[in-house]
Amino acid sequence: LNIVVLMGGWSSERPVSLMSGEGIVEALKERGFTNVTGVDMDRNVAQILAGIRPDVVFNALHGTPGEDGTVQGMLDLMQIPYTHSGVTTSAVAIDKELTKAVLVPHGIRMPKGKVVDSKSLYEGDPMARPYVLKPVNEGSSVGVAIVTDEGNYGHPISARAEGPWLHFDRLLAEPFIRGRELTVAVLGDQALCVTELKPVQGFYDFDAKYTDGLTEHVCPADVPPHIAQEMMDMALAAHRLLGCRGASRSDFRWDDAQGEAGVYLLEVNTQPGMTPLSLVPEQAKQKGISYGELVEQIIAESLA
Ligand code: DAL
Ligand code: MG
Repeated sequence: LNIVVLMGGWSSERPVSLMSGEGIVEALKERGFTNVTGVDMDRNVAQILAGIRPDVVFNALHGTPGEDGTVQGMLDLMQIPYTHSGVTTSAVAIDKELTKAVLVPHGIRMPKGKVVDSKSLYEGDPMARPYVLKPVNEGSSVGVAIVTDEGNYGHPISARAEGPWLHFDRLLAEPFIRGRELTVAVLGDQALCVTELKPVQGFYDFDAKYTDGLTEHVCPADVPPHIAQEMMDMALAAHRLLGCRGASRSDFRWDDAQGEAGVYLLEVNTQPGMTPLSLVPEQAKQKGISYGELVEQIIAESLA
């Protein structure tokens, strides 16, 4: 099998994608695949792929344009099979507002958000504090702030004009859900398990996600069985409703004072991270699936 692992690119998650991609290339080689090429995507990607003529592309890109349907459309046009979700699913899932529009009518509980223009923040809070402000279409918590009465993480509210969000046009404001941070991977058509993320300080931001030792991962999470089941059901339903393929990962908050009614889906990641600290590989391992087997399984589904 001639395999290209597409990674890097120019999104804000480029470094994460390089880590995912390198891990995947290495795992494929270890498993005996000899014809594996890692490609750091630039604007000549179509020409490069036309030269290599792969049987399949392992999409290890995160963020735009590798996670939003753009690269998927190019690969469709070139008739090259690729891993993970297709054009429409990717375009919807990268956009947290569109994701809500699809999932909420089906009874998936998500925080009631409000999309605002970043410039409107000069005029004041978009909703009552505490709230979370996040770019509509970024990943890895890039540009995320939690705004409380005491200010927000890293940037006092009076310095709003210098907030990280000014780099983004469309922002989503959501009421901050107190409680716990959890995630569920779906592989094939099966929810794997629930992991709780416990950052040693602050919230599960970019540094907490990718710096070893900054977040404790509890897998399987220490939550009541019916709560774990509720999250796994929601993750699988979201995966199916959006039409995800290969692997996806659904992120949750659980306000544990509210019981089952406090479980909220935040978003669905169609290109979940495959780095050494990433959660899909960790849950797969918990289920007895090694990293290499996971990579192969995702490829097999793209060729089915
Ligand atoms: N956006 C990162 C890569 C993730 O969802 O794992
Ligand atoms: Mg995400």
